[in-house]
Amino acid sequence: MSGSAHQLRCTECGVVIEKDAASSDFRCVRCSGLYEVVYAWSSANAGTRSSGAAGGCLPNASALRYLWEERRTSTLAVDQSGVWRFRDLLPIVDDMDRVVTLREGNTPLYDLPRCAKAAGVDWLLAKHQGMNPTGSFKDTGMTAALSVAAERGFEWVACASTGNTSAAMAAYAARAGLRSIVFIPEGKIAWGKLSQSMDYGALTIQLKTDFDGCVKILGELVRRFPIYLLNSVNPYRLEGQKTPAFEMVEQMDWQVPEHIIVPGGNLANSAALGKGFSEMYQLGLIARRPKISVIQAEGANPLYRWFMDENRVMRPVTAETRATAIRIGNPASWRKAAAVIDELGGWCEQVSEQEIALAKAEIGAEGVGCEPASAVTLAGLKKLVALGKVTREERVVLILTGHTLKDSAYTIDYHRGELFGEREKAQLTAEDEALHAALRKPPTVLEADASLVLRAIESHMGRSQISQPQLV
Ligand code: F0G
Repeated sequence: MSGSAHQLRCTECGVVIEKDAASSDFRCVRCSGLYEVVYAWSSANAGTRSSGAAGGCLPNASALRYLWEERRTSTLAVDQSGVWRFRDLLPIVDDMDRVVTLREGNTPLYDLPRCAKAAGVDWLLAKHQGMNPTGSFKDTGMTAALSVAAERGFEWVACASTGNTSAAMAAYAARAGLRSIVFIPEGKIAWGKLSQSMDYGALTIQLKTDFDGCVKILGELVRRFPIYLLNSVNPYRLEGQKTPAFEMVEQMDWQVPEHIIVPGGNLANSAALGKGFSEMYQLGLIARRPKISVIQAEGANPLYRWFMDENRVMRPVTAETRATAIRIGNPASWRKAAAVIDELGGWCEQVSEQEIALAKAEIGAEGVGCEPASAVTLAGLKKLVALGKVTREERVVLILTGHTLKDSAYTIDYHRGELFGEREKAQLTAEDEALHAALRKPPTVLEADASLVLRAIESHMGRSQISQPQLV
């Protein structure tokens, strides 16, 4: 399938517009709602299908599966990309030769047997989106939206970010030879992410506000200058971010897990994955859709509050959490995420700072690791199991959104026992304290004296509960 045969549909009022008719802030001119990309075959666009909304004949499900598998052996950049390999379901650019790709996607699906045990399920997998080129799931969305920006002739792109979007945008803009502007909250992003945007040559502006404040300033900027907005209100971002759903079921031999668990910040990713599963379902690629549950940090929990509120009113909060990636109080895509939870029958939970830290250490101890925001998934799963929302036999996939090296300061503080203050430590139960103590691995500083080192290791082995081979 060639050509960018698609339109944009407002997810609030339903109005459908041509692909280049959106305003610079990607808000519906009628109702300020967010758009989604629709194709001739989208059920969302069914009402306009007969009017020839978008042309092209889609191959059937088995032809698609075959085509996608075949592309895996190709040497073409677009085939090697785990996003553009599925391009038949995201025809958003005209010229495939001009796609901006770092061979994103193709991320591993790991099993986490010890985390499964800790959570009380038989079977637990993690789709590690932190294994993308810039270390987070944002790359899958950025290759899509930045390719659109490049094709439409923009010279400048911009985003507000808690750090990962900016890292991804800066990298893809550099690849395309575009200039990029990053707004990040001063002092509230992890060093790994800040260093990336500088390394990839972005104009990096640290604002003395939070993420929500950065979004406001960015809005002003794109209204005044011809700068392409790359936050997740841009619907093309979600087209890239839906592809891990395709990749995941392909990796599972086209079986569908019962439950997907996603961290919630600005709430676009849960919406994107929901769209991916719904499109596969609609095209007959899968026979049913999984539940999608969203987990937030207690200090940044507007969706959780909405979910628990019997009147279902969304009230923004002032966000505070050490999981800085999801330190967001006024999420742009909350309606899209809420629709996915309701439609697919998922749940929303919140988790505490200590629960996040424990879950992160547990994922690290499996040799996988992730950044703090990703660990909310395991912490949330434990709660969903306790509430009976996930049963032991269900196949659950956690979406790990960022690489552990993104925020190494957090990890080091945790293992040194310096992450929490005395007041927070005092809140821990004896059982939790024992769990943390077993996981914490602070570095040991020793003189470079062999007998001293051997003695220290010997005493460590003596303390270890795991049986060790005899020293000879
Ligand atoms: N996990 C990580 C590692 C993130 O960086 C983000 C969002 C999320 C989860 C939440 O995803 O916003 O789609 O609900 N980071 C954005 C950023 C906001 O600017 O990098 P979401």
